[in-house]
Amino acid sequence: MKILAIETSCDDTAIALVEASGTMSTPKFKILKSVVSSQIKIHRPWGGVVPNLAKREHIKNLPKIFDKLKVKGKKAKVDAICVTVGPGLEPALWAGITFAKEIYRQLKTENPTKTGQPQAGKLRLIGVNHLEGHLYSFLLSQKTVNSKHKILNPKSYSPTPIFPAIALIVSGGHTILLKMDSPIKWKKLGETKDDAVGESFDKVAKMLGFPYPGGPEIQRLAEKGNPNAVRFPRPMIGSKDYNFSYSGLKTSVLYYLRDNPKAEKEDVAASFQEAALDVLIKKTERAAREYGAKSIFLSGGVAANSVLRNKLLVISNKLGANFFAPPMDFNTDNAVMIAVAGYMSILRKKNKKLIADGNMRI
Ligand code: KG4
Ligand code: ZN
Repeated sequence: MKILAIETSCDDTAIALVEASGTMSTPKFKILKSVVSSQIKIHRPWGGVVPNLAKREHIKNLPKIFDKLKVKGKKAKVDAICVTVGPGLEPALWAGITFAKEIYRQLKTENPTKTGQPQAGKLRLIGVNHLEGHLYSFLLSQKTVNSKHKILNPKSYSPTPIFPAIALIVSGGHTILLKMDSPIKWKKLGETKDDAVGESFDKVAKMLGFPYPGGPEIQRLAEKGNPNAVRFPRPMIGSKDYNFSYSGLKTSVLYYLRDNPKAEKEDVAASFQEAALDVLIKKTERAAREYGAKSIFLSGGVAANSVLRNKLLVISNKLGANFFAPPMDFNTDNAVMIAVAGYMSILRKKNKKLIADGNMRI
């Protein structure tokens, strides 16, 4: 089935066209088109994403991107439109939902049945949870087993036990650890009690004088610094639960910079990154051991961090578990992951209401 997916939960306007097939345990995805238009430059002067500005830009960008994709007329043959309904910035989410409804009406009248009546019940309009998008993006990943990189081929992965799996979702808004027993059954083990890990990367980068988004800048600086230069705290690393906390670490960096104005930025970035990732890695490893995980899934914008990817790969190898992380283009927000989660929703016969829900949970 051909899926048109729309993602506008934050500052990226993304549309994708994906051919999806297969069953719940052997889903297959072919990316036909994927466009992500970033609004970073527009929000930069404000030091963060401004919801109403994001909405205005999405409304401007969506028709432009859609026209470029040429998904009109009889040839389009779209079977489902999937759109992110939450969590995220509500004005931004509404821009995507409203556009999805418009396209739904358009495609219905452009593809009438023989009697000239709009097709009834064929084209679907599916609401998708953004976090399920990140979670299911393991289905797009390059499978890495014992350091051998292979493109994930659902036929080859389905007989291999990959569940139970431990999934770590790390982004600008979320830090979540889940146990997944099957493609449709999961349980949240823990999450951040305050800032998300990506948010702490963004805030520390800002303290060091770098613009939003800070994650890539911190990683670049850290490559040239000493991760043991400053011993920043590892909040909640010893707590028995699977929760996280990043606001104290950010404050420690702030005080350190205030007291050491001549500190090398590279060393501060490397030491901060080491502390921030240490907690993620330790808790993921502990959960994987506790639940006898056959796989570790990593996703969300912070999954683009190569130190985190490599360390989790090493842990997975040590535990004899598979490691899945999406290819680089599909860690940060994109619409392909929304198509993937949308297809899984269709197979699960689940649909979310087409109402923006900024605080939607997974
Ligand atoms: O998933 P995403 O695009 O948006 C949300 O759903 O939040 O994640 C964006 C976050 C930002 O905080 C950004 O700084 C972070 O991902 N990020 C990184 C890296 N690339 C992006 N954090 C650490 N290292 C990176 N290389
Ligand atoms: Zn995201």
